[in-house]
Amino acid sequence: MTDGDATGAAIDVFGLEDRTFPPPALLAAAANVRDLSLYEEAERDPEAFWARQARELVTWQRDFDTVLEWDLPFAKWFVGGQLNISENCLDRHVAAGRGDRVAFHWEGEPGDTRTITYAELLADVQRFANVLKGLGVEKGDRVNIYMPMIPELPVAMLACARIGAPHSVVFGGFSAESLSDRINDAEAKVLVTADGGYRRGAPANLKGSADAACASSPSIEHVVVVRRTGEAVTMLEGRDHWWHDLMGAAGPTCPPEPLDSEHLLYLLYTSGTTAKPKGIMHTTGGYLTQVAFTHKNVFDLHDGDVYWCAADIGWVTGHSYIVYGPLANGATSVLYEGTPDTPGRDRWWDIIERYKVSILYCAPTAIRTFMKWGTAEPGKHDLSSLRVLGSVGEPINPEAWMWYREHIGGDQCPIVDTWWQTETGGIMISPLPGVTTTKPGSATFPLPGIGAEVVDDAGKAVDRGSGGYLTLTRPWPGMLRGIYGDPDRYRETYWSRFPGRYFAGDGAKLDDDGYLWLLGRVDDVMNVSGHRISTTEVESALVDHQEVAEAAVVGAKDETTGQAIVAFVTVKGGVATTRELGEELRHHVAHKIGPTARPKTVIFTDDLPKTRSGKIMRRLLRDVAEGRDLGDTTTLADPAVVEEIRRRAEAAPQDES
Ligand code: PRX
Repeated sequence: MTDGDATGAAIDVFGLEDRTFPPPALLAAAANVRDLSLYEEAERDPEAFWARQARELVTWQRDFDTVLEWDLPFAKWFVGGQLNISENCLDRHVAAGRGDRVAFHWEGEPGDTRTITYAELLADVQRFANVLKGLGVEKGDRVNIYMPMIPELPVAMLACARIGAPHSVVFGGFSAESLSDRINDAEAKVLVTADGGYRRGAPANLKGSADAACASSPSIEHVVVVRRTGEAVTMLEGRDHWWHDLMGAAGPTCPPEPLDSEHLLYLLYTSGTTAKPKGIMHTTGGYLTQVAFTHKNVFDLHDGDVYWCAADIGWVTGHSYIVYGPLANGATSVLYEGTPDTPGRDRWWDIIERYKVSILYCAPTAIRTFMKWGTAEPGKHDLSSLRVLGSVGEPINPEAWMWYREHIGGDQCPIVDTWWQTETGGIMISPLPGVTTTKPGSATFPLPGIGAEVVDDAGKAVDRGSGGYLTLTRPWPGMLRGIYGDPDRYRETYWSRFPGRYFAGDGAKLDDDGYLWLLGRVDDVMNVSGHRISTTEVESALVDHQEVAEAAVVGAKDETTGQAIVAFVTVKGGVATTRELGEELRHHVAHKIGPTARPKTVIFTDDLPKTRSGKIMRRLLRDVAEGRDLGDTTTLADPAVVEEIRRRAEAAPQDES
């Protein structure tokens, strides 16, 4: 801990809900999981349970010999097994006669649509796998992907998986610099991108950022560019190639490479408590087992369902629950490119009505936005096709949970509030819709095969009715295998705080009935609209600006986005703290990291409150930020704020560490 934020197990707990919602009888009667026997089986022998799931849900080219090798904190699952994920997601469905089934109903923001069957997806993936090979990509080589939400994005990922080239997808909203950092960390050979994508009714350029990134990423030998918007782009002779040209010239068949269960499938970078994002490593057999298992059972997937995860593939939710889980299970999904308010604020509800979506998975921040827009928007559409609603990315407040249930789910649909992380690979804590009685705002219980416990400062499990830190008590198949290139940071970040346990970084409470309530981060990580952003990363971006002397960043509670970024900044001597400078700093952060990291508010202060050992007292700053009515605009130097910080700093204990 870097300040006094988590000084004990005494995590403040809000008034908990007492409303309960049992599973709807009809759904429960036909659910994939109908009773508690799965939990009991998993509890008796977790390894045998996961081995059974692995053999039932996944097709292996060679069966595994050992379920788990656990050399804390390094796990190997299904050792000796060989498989190919793209074969699991595509070939086996086509071979079983389901080639005509729709994999993706894709809808572009301007309203253009494409329907892609499993057979078509397989054909494209094989061709693109050959394209990658033609560009010199070999098994083990890293490929970076920086794309909008278009079908070529899952095609590129699956093609990488087909030839055993780990992918590193970077969210299209990240800046050139963020992209370049990630390319350099992974030392990727090839970058797959697009001219741009549509956001809020207009083309958003990507190729320009990709070019800027490549200028400082010497490992990139080739760039493949999808034409999406048709906007003019610069193509560098010899390096840059159009997707359609290469695909037109590529061979149609590429057999799936047999890969070891522990072969690196992908890297996905996420924010930690330092400025350098971590390359989270996920491997093949265990990851696929967990995402297939959770996707099938948490969402109660049946033949005929139309499933829509409204996340971006650039985040882990999209990796696991748009691409790998749903495709492994042969699901039919909706894939939507754009924003929820283009052209109207009923875009999502229109999509649900037209495609008869039966399972919707989205983030609380979206739900709170829809609440603000009012019930008339969903009211314009027939949402009766929905049967299961999911939530992910941040704690869902009971009010949003109830609104989601009433106004989207017509009071009929169970809500599965799914807790997990980039690091966990798949869902860990969640109701199962056919068996779990839910409480609005609680993620309920660990899934079968998962061990989770709330512990106090000393690492002792807390009693019911108490709060503490969420830990995971045993390895799980989809767990991260490490941080790319940094095993020490892996051990230190996740496995050192509580010996023998994985420390998730989240506060949690166990209620009197044993339900888990997630309370948000306890470390220096903010959660803005379900996206993790490190305070340190934003602070580094701020002090990188020539006028800034020092900066401290906190996540303050925000009605819509969960947390909003508030930056306290002291400037260098003689610099005027103008509104323009505030705007410039917000822009600077967006430029350095990406628009999601743009501070909502910049507060100029003469000093930052510090402990005697020089640590910034973030808790105090958060109190100040949360106690104020913060607008979108920059708050100028404000003696009242400074006074407030000083007053509180003086009153606070002097050496919190
Ligand atoms: O704080 C928790 C919050 O999101 C963090 C993980 O963020 P990320 O790796 O970006 O993955 C997000 C999508 C899985 C967690 O440490 N979080 C995620 N889901 C929930 C949640 N907090 C409360 N309830 C959830 N359902």
